[in-house]
Amino acid sequence: MTAAASPEISAKLEAILTGIKETAALPLSQARTLPREAYTDEDYFAFERENIFKKDWMCLAHVSQLKTPGSYIALDLFDEPLLVIRDREGAIRVLSRVCAHRAMDIMPDDPAFPREGETRLLVCPYHKWVYELDGTLRGCTQMHNAEGFDKADWKLAEFHSEVWNGFVFVNFDGNAKPLSEQYADFDRVIAPWNAADMEVAIELEWDCDFNWKVMVENWMESYHHIGTHATTLNVSMPGELTWSEPEHPYFVHAHLPYTEKLRGELRASRAGGPKVPGFEWIEGLSEDQAFEWGLFTGFPCFMFLTTHDRALWYRLLPVAADRCLLLTTTLVSKKAKEAPGYAEALVSETDMLNTFHSEDMVMNAAVQRGLKSSKVVRGRLSHLEEPVWLIQRYLAARAEGRYPEKANRAPYHGPKAMQAAE
Ligand code: FES
Ligand SMILES: [Fe+2]
Repeated sequence: MTAAASPEISAKLEAILTGIKETAALPLSQARTLPREAYTDEDYFAFERENIFKKDWMCLAHVSQLKTPGSYIALDLFDEPLLVIRDREGAIRVLSRVCAHRAMDIMPDDPAFPREGETRLLVCPYHKWVYELDGTLRGCTQMHNAEGFDKADWKLAEFHSEVWNGFVFVNFDGNAKPLSEQYADFDRVIAPWNAADMEVAIELEWDCDFNWKVMVENWMESYHHIGTHATTLNVSMPGELTWSEPEHPYFVHAHLPYTEKLRGELRASRAGGPKVPGFEWIEGLSEDQAFEWGLFTGFPCFMFLTTHDRALWYRLLPVAADRCLLLTTTLVSKKAKEAPGYAEALVSETDMLNTFHSEDMVMNAAVQRGLKSSKVVRGRLSHLEEPVWLIQRYLAARAEGRYPEKANRAPYHGPKAMQAAE
C-alpha cells in the first residue's frame, strides 16, 4: 500500500479497503453502498491516486481538439502540469510543462498563457529556454559557460500516452497494458460510431464539489431517471428498461433502450416524416444500436455514451476526495457538421446537454453532502444499479492490484437475460 504514511493511516486505510472488498463481494441481489469513507477520506483518495489513477489510463483529450501541429491543451492532474500537444510530425504527445532549467511551469496560471490554443514553439517565460513541440530543447541563451552542458540532454519530460478511438489517454506509471488490449471488446462495440473521426462539437466545464465516483455512478445507473430526469430523459428512456452487460475487467457497458413511442417517431423521421430534433444520424447502425443509449465507463473514469446521432464523452479529472473537474462534451460526425440545420441543432442540443447535466449536478452535490453526514447509512441497491455494483468490484480488485474477471454468463437482467432463461 503506497499511500500509507503512518500506522494510524495504515489501519484506517485497511479498514476502508476491507469495507470496499466486503461490499463488492456481495451478490448483486444483496448489494449495498460502499462505506462513506470511500467518498470522503483524503487518505483513501491518495490511495486511489497512486493505485488506480496513476496505474490505469486517464483520458485527457480528443484528437478533434488538437487538429493542427502546435495545437495544445494544458491541464493539471495529480500535481503534474501537463501539455497535450500535436507535434510537427502530427503525433500527439503528453508532455510535462516543467522546465528542465529551474522547474518552472512553462505555462503559469496567468491570462497570458491560455489553457488551449496553438503555438509554434514552447517558450519558458522565466529565462526563455525554447523547446520544440516534441519537448526537445531548441535553444537557450547564456549557457555557453556551463561546463559539459549539451542541449540534447535537456528536454520536457514525456508521459506514456496512447490514442484510442481518437481519445488521448495518459498512463502515469507507464506500466498499464495497452488500451488496444484492455479496451479491445469495448472497441468492437463502439466501432460503428467511428469515434476517431468524430468531432467535439459541444464542451461544457463543471467544477464539481463531489467525489469522482459519485459522478461515475450517476453516469452509469439510470435508476435515477425516475427522479432526477422525470420530465426530461425519463420520458424517452425510462430507467426501468436499463440493463447491464456481464462483468468485464476494464469497462462497464449498460443499455438504456428508447421507448416504443420514440422508436416510432425516429423511424418516421427517417422516412421523411416530422423531424425529431437532433443531428444527422450516424451511418450504418442497426436498430438495436441506434434505438438506445449505450452507456460506458472505461475504468477508471472514461465516460462515453452512444446514441443514434451523437456520442457523449465526459472528461473527469479527480482533484480531491470531494472535488473533481468535469468537461461534458458532445461529439458528432463530420457529415453532421456539414448538414443543413446543424447550427440550430447545436444551439438546442447544447441546451439539452446543459439541462439534463444540471439536473445531475444538483443530485451529485447533494449526495456528497449526505455522505459527509454522521447519519449516512449503507443503503441497498436496486437491480437497476448493477453498474454501481460493478464499479465497486473494480475498486475492490484494484485494491488488490488486479482487475475483475470477465464473466462468462448471460446478463442478469434485460431482454437477453429473459431470452437466456427461456
Ligand atoms: S525555469 Fe524555464 S528557462 Fe529557467
Ligand atoms: Fe443523470
